[in-house]
Amino acid sequence: MRFALADLSIQIGHIRFNNPVFVASGTFGYGTENKELVDVSKLGAIVTKSITLNPREGNPPPRLVETPSGMINSIGLANIGVDKYISDMLPVYEGIGTPIIMNIAGSSMDEYISVLEKIESVSSAIVGYEINISCPNVKEGGMQFGIDCSMTESLTSALRKRTEKLLIMKLSPNVTDISSIATSAENGGADAVSAINTVVGMSIDHKTAKSNIYTTFGGLSGPAIKPIGLACVHKVFHSITIPIIGIGGIVNTGDVVEYILAGAKAVQVGTANFRDPGICVKILNNLDLYINKHNITLNNLIGSVKQYD
Ligand code: DHB
Repeated sequence: MRFALADLSIQIGHIRFNNPVFVASGTFGYGTENKELVDVSKLGAIVTKSITLNPREGNPPPRLVETPSGMINSIGLANIGVDKYISDMLPVYEGIGTPIIMNIAGSSMDEYISVLEKIESVSSAIVGYEINISCPNVKEGGMQFGIDCSMTESLTSALRKRTEKLLIMKLSPNVTDISSIATSAENGGADAVSAINTVVGMSIDHKTAKSNIYTTFGGLSGPAIKPIGLACVHKVFHSITIPIIGIGGIVNTGDVVEYILAGAKAVQVGTANFRDPGICVKILNNLDLYINKHNITLNNLIGSVKQYD
């Protein structure tokens, strides 16, 4: 027997997405590179790599290393800068058929604001912003914001005043109390939070006694961090009322369902795209089957993990 296609659509803020499976920042370029490999119109949304005010070359190599069930990166926010992003990328988004969420990074409040204001001053197909307050790999800014409640709240409200597009704050797991940072993002006026960014990690080659990463520390991602991501999403779920986008180690449909049970309304798939750029489409096809087979709706599943008495 064939099932009708399930309704996988979800709403975050004022934006309706066709489905809850997005690609994560830093794993799908500017959103246009994989067009020949993947039917990107099937994706719930594309989150771009982080864009900063000025172009950045990033950190010197080695800046990527495979680790057990994951990888560590220290790219250092390499990107073309917002002006070139506006001239070269925005026009390509017009016909792409997928909602684009632009990820913004900065080393000061002014930098985040300037990047956002530049995008706001032109017309574009961008539906929202994900604000990277959790990059572990740059000396200034980045994670400084995401580990401090008052900085998170003031940055969120400064950006909120300047845009009606979707505003998503991306949270770091490298904090003592992720719930209080999420609450600050909600108080500042964010439409949603995404969690988690990478976990600070280190990799050493015992044969050479050298660090496998130029900057010594980097961001750990992949299946190794899924339990951390689930725990963070579930903690945050009990503290805020705005939607949570779950991230961390998702490689299949079961992982997506687990994040939704923990409290996520949508998810982002990151590291798994490097192994298979078509992974999200496969995950989506299976999610459709899962929803049909269990005769449930995504909304009823959110945060409904069963606990022991
Ligand atoms: C980088 C940025 C991140 O937010 C992250 O989690 C890992 C790496 C980077 O550009 O170095």
